[in-house]
Amino acid sequence: FWILALVAVLAYALGSVPFGVVIAKLMGLGNLREIGSGNIGATNVMRTGNKLAGGLTFLLDAAKGGIAALLAWWAIGPDAAQVAALAAFLGHLYPVYLGFRGGKGVATFIGVALALAWPVGLATCATWLLTFKLSRYSSLSALVACGFSSIYAAFLGYMPLVALLVVMKLLVFYSHRENIRRLLARTEPRFRK
Ligand code: G3P
Repeated sequence: FWILALVAVLAYALGSVPFGVVIAKLMGLGNLREIGSGNIGATNVMRTGNKLAGGLTFLLDAAKGGIAALLAWWAIGPDAAQVAALAAFLGHLYPVYLGFRGGKGVATFIGVALALAWPVGLATCATWLLTFKLSRYSSLSALVACGFSSIYAAFLGYMPLVALLVVMKLLVFYSHRENIRRLLARTEPRFRK
């Protein structure tokens, strides 16, 4: 138990690192809380117009989840990998360094999915891209992609992963509650082509 608790704490500390905030500051793009939706994720970094910064934020926020899961898998095993994945994801959503006001978890979700079952991660990414191509809504793409991920896991034969992905997708739905309200009211901002 103590080993798993230690894994959870370390993964949570890594997941808590808000790369969007760090990158925006380092690249002189300003305070993300005062830009666009005020969120700390790659989508909102993209709204500064700096695609490199947005891409880096996505990669690093995904990598922190993926690396936490892979390290735990390598050091202990698949159950520890799931604990690390969830802890890193919770770190992004509720980061200790930002007074527990964090991001919406989409990049970290994808990083974790790629690490634990890469076909599920790829299918989730493809779903995000397709939904985005059709709708130009980042939030809707996240909801559809994360929503389908546990179904992909079940169909692709990753049964032990299904419960974790269901929990994580419910948290993504919760973190997007304002976006869902705006989507229903048709006031959610779209990305221009
Ligand atoms: O990944 C977050 C995205 O789904 C929504 O972000 O900034 O549009 O609220 P935002």
